[in-house]
Amino acid sequence: MIQEQLEVCVNVEIAKDTFEMKLKGEMEQLVDQPGRFIHIKIGDGSFHMLRRPISIADVDKENHTITLVYKVTGKGTEWLSERVAGDKVDALGPGGQGFEITEVKNEKILVIGGGVGVPPLYHLTKELVENNDVTVILGFQSKEAVFYEKEFNQFGDRVQTLVVTDDGSYGEKGLVTDIASEFSQDSTRYFTCGPLPMLKAVKNQLVEIPGHISLEERMGCGIGACFACVCHSTNESGYVKVCKDGPVFSSNEVIL
Ligand SMILES: Cc1cc2nc3c(=O)[nH]c(=O)nc-3n(C[C@H](O)[C@H](O)[C@H](O)COP(=O)(O)OP(=O)(O)OC[C@H]3O[C@@H](n4cnc5c(N)ncnc54)[C@H](O)[C@@H]3O)c2cc1C
Ligand code: FES
Repeated sequence: MIQEQLEVCVNVEIAKDTFEMKLKGEMEQLVDQPGRFIHIKIGDGSFHMLRRPISIADVDKENHTITLVYKVTGKGTEWLSERVAGDKVDALGPGGQGFEITEVKNEKILVIGGGVGVPPLYHLTKELVENNDVTVILGFQSKEAVFYEKEFNQFGDRVQTLVVTDDGSYGEKGLVTDIASEFSQDSTRYFTCGPLPMLKAVKNQLVEIPGHISLEERMGCGIGACFACVCHSTNESGYVKVCKDGPVFSSNEVIL
């Protein structure tokens, strides 16, 4: 993990209150797995705020950029949305443990994302399709919140992408679990990231197959020192730290 001043190359709104940001620097070279995050210092020093964790949605090895996709939900992400090309962003990263997929080959995989849980699954799917068939189910509240459907489909014939919305304004009406049930028999493994109620529902539905869950807990230090991000676990100590042990866990390791 390093601390680096990353340069903003792009910062554009791609769905309602949702921005795609590309950051240039050396940190990209350290991203060895999909699902890791960077911890961003908010503000210019004139006010004190904790860093904010944002998942790495993609890396571009040629251009040395990291892509983030984030939703404006408060002061920190609002500040981030106001950065323009050429600005510098103080980042600590890459943090945590991502999706371990080196052994995952010739499988039929379900990737299930909800809202701002979708970004880390983009980088994951890009790597999974090299050796596996992937069905991606993306859930959003409504049409205006949908992003990256086309981008997931660009990975070629080995991926199919399905979109559901809560209100039916785009794709199929319903929840990700409504669609996932159609694929649960055929799938050998699932990966998921999204709001906690969605993660619980997915875990309860797909009990028969190995699952990998990425958690988005609130964080303090982001490096395992402050206990702000602990989550109940089935391990000996009874807890895990999302920032250091995760954010990705096997589904039977965490109690949601
Ligand atoms: C490992 C990790 C990866 C993440 N990746 C992304 C990402 O790729 N894109 C993205 O948009 N967001 C992501 N998040 C969530 C993001 O960190 C928070 O939305 C952000 O910290 C909000 O900061 P803020 O100052 O704008 O809002 P705040 O003022 O801190 O919060 C605004 C609202 O959001 C809620 N909230 C804040 N943080 C969380 C959280 N972690 N979980 C649930 N609710 C929360 C608060 O309860 C409040 O209602 C990630 C979080 C973690 C831990
Ligand atoms: S945020 Fe401090 S221990 Fe995880």
